[in-house]
Amino acid sequence: MDRLLDIKDLKVNLFTAYGEVRGVRGVSAEVGEGEIVGIVGESGCGKTLTAKSILGLHNPERTELSGKIEFCRKNGGIIDLISAQKGEMKKIRGSEISMVLQDSSAALSPIITIGKQMGEVISAHKKVSKSEAAKIAEKLLYDVGISEPGTRLKCLPGELSGGQLQRICIAMAISSEPRLLIADEPTTALDAVTQAQILELLKNLSAERNMAILIVTHNFSVVKRLCDRVYVMYAGLIAESGSVKEVIEDPRHRYTRDLLQSVPDGTKKRLKAASGPLPDIYSDICGCPYFERCAERGEGCEKEVPLKSLSGSHFAACIKAGGE
Ligand SMILES: Nc1ncnc2c1ncn2[C@@H]1O[C@H](COP(=O)(O)OP(=O)(O)OP(=O)(O)O)[C@@H](O)[C@H]1O
Ligand code: SF4
Ligand SMILES: [Mg+2]
Repeated sequence: MDRLLDIKDLKVNLFTAYGEVRGVRGVSAEVGEGEIVGIVGESGCGKTLTAKSILGLHNPERTELSGKIEFCRKNGGIIDLISAQKGEMKKIRGSEISMVLQDSSAALSPIITIGKQMGEVISAHKKVSKSEAAKIAEKLLYDVGISEPGTRLKCLPGELSGGQLQRICIAMAISSEPRLLIADEPTTALDAVTQAQILELLKNLSAERNMAILIVTHNFSVVKRLCDRVYVMYAGLIAESGSVKEVIEDPRHRYTRDLLQSVPDGTKKRLKAASGPLPDIYSDICGCPYFERCAERGEGCEKEVPLKSLSGSHFAACIKAGGE
């Protein structure tokens, strides 16, 4: 599988009234062509900042990015999205890389019909007439499983359900035939049944279009259902990565194990949550970031613990993970 996205030692610092926030402290991650990759971790670990950095969706006056984000363009050229010119980013954003967010209705205007909003997005990337754009929009709605797409195009967002709106946002995001779709918590606001349907839809679209997906979630069950590979993030760093099978069947970082135990499994057993504070976002971290909360911490954990190779594509940053 050819590499599509290669994030190298990404650091994101935010300048705030209270000081400098270390939002992302050094993340390296890859996405192959047509691959579905998850970034999973609890709230505040830096998932969204990582995803937004790929599209340059940050305030340049209050954010400092370092590292590299190399993306393989449709024309075969490699571009570093961190150092890319504004004009270049504009061409890539929404065209070669698209994004779907958790709250789809917020992205849509409540007073403009779905057809008009979709038409505008389609015309921004393709030189087509209004009637051709309408035909493309109808076909896209059909592709994302919307019944009676012709009728839905005439609706306002308020006349549709949350699940339908999320499908429409996905339809808009894929209208430019992107090579990479970034989905940030795309199903969190939906009920369990609709959530499962949207994940199934994303999986099918990825396979049909050879479109890679980078999905951001706090929920390991989303990763299980959808992804080929996963990066587990904690405090702005990667704690563990590998194929979903490697990480779920044989989690080696204590944080991954704690996170996996917090996935509801339909039983009434109490969810396990690691206690203790998260590392201070205004300070540098010495040693393992999970130290304060880890039930297995011991000698050596206070020193820097780099990611090490275990087997296959499996990596973990824990002194008790084994490996070389
Ligand atoms: N604009 C901002 N100003 C100040 N701090 C920010 C800003 N954006 C993010 N942060 C901080 O950076 C850290 C990482 O934020 P991020 O949004 O990436 O978290 P996340 O993993 O996506 O969490 P969630 O699951 O809650 O969406 C958090 O501590 C957050 O408070
Ligand atoms: S390195 Fe030490 S503190 Fe960190 S997760 Fe592993 S055992 Fe726990
Ligand atoms: Mg987020």
